[in-house]
Amino acid sequence: MQLPPEVPLLAQLPPDWPAPEALGFGQYLGPYLVECQHRAEGGWGAPCLTPRAASPLPVASGATQYGLSVFEGLKAYRDASDGIHLFRAPEHAQRLQRSAERLHLPVPPQALILQLCRLAVQVHADYVPPHGRGSLYLRPTLFAEEECLGLRPAMRHRLSIVVTPCGDPLPKSVRLWAEPELIRAAPGGLGAAKTGANYAAGIGGLLRAKERGYDDVAWLDAATHTQLGEAGTMNLFVQIGDEVFTPPLDGTILAGITRDCVMTLLAERGIACHERVLTLAALTQAGTEGTLGSAFGTGTAARIARITAIGDGQREIRFRETGLIESVHAALKRAQETPGDGGRAWCDTVEP
Ligand code: COI
Repeated sequence: MQLPPEVPLLAQLPPDWPAPEALGFGQYLGPYLVECQHRAEGGWGAPCLTPRAASPLPVASGATQYGLSVFEGLKAYRDASDGIHLFRAPEHAQRLQRSAERLHLPVPPQALILQLCRLAVQVHADYVPPHGRGSLYLRPTLFAEEECLGLRPAMRHRLSIVVTPCGDPLPKSVRLWAEPELIRAAPGGLGAAKTGANYAAGIGGLLRAKERGYDDVAWLDAATHTQLGEAGTMNLFVQIGDEVFTPPLDGTILAGITRDCVMTLLAERGIACHERVLTLAALTQAGTEGTLGSAFGTGTAARIARITAIGDGQREIRFRETGLIESVHAALKRAQETPGDGGRAWCDTVEP
């Protein structure tokens, strides 16, 4: 494919790869978008490359006005032989399809999503950090680009992938604020879809958490404000005794791919992991009984984050260091960076 002329980055990548902590997330955006249009009358068009800075999104578009937009986040890694692979790309493609269905956007075929992801990596191969130093994060985004101020499904959409190299540093530690008033999602709503509305709904809670000296939010259920859901933008895991628990996928929680990886990796290590409703009261009781172990959040961007405490203004539930987070993090890192690790088919090679 013929590349359009190189366009300047928002911030130029330094000549040497920054340390993972310095690279962070989203600092350097790739110069190209790998895109495909969808028209109600003609279906999906051919993939094309657009300089990122030249991409127009009308103010009156369905995406801008009504949030008719869904996205994914997946990563490409370099292996020890310098080859590049995508991690669990088919699962991310399937989740993008489910999110699109929920918002009545055109559902892209899985083969098309994977083709665009491979192309985005090929075009931005220089943006994939060296083996063990991070990953290239891909953000496929499907949105209504048609200008229409009346509320209805749009007739013109675009699937567009923007990329950013990220550092994948060691797990950071976070304290969570159990938000008593604002909610992220409710039964029957959009909570299981990866769509901007869920993140927009979360901003208020994040700010309230920070005002109170916490790093992020522990979201509670809409009806009783007692059951834990997501941890900020991550899925939540809590160790009690010899077992690990994570809230069930009840439609208000995103079905995290990293969540699924961690459940598999725990099972492979003989550690029982159950999907179970977790209440603040049950965690408080486990703390009192001395059975409360570690807690962590999982997500594609964050990978694993250590949760040291959850507070709600009346109590502070403190988690312990048990070594679980270190071993889960090491297993996940190996699975992500090593094609064929453990005999699992989680990595798809991207030809140069
Ligand atoms: C991801 O982990 O892929 C996300 O979408 C989280 C994002 C809010 C940074």
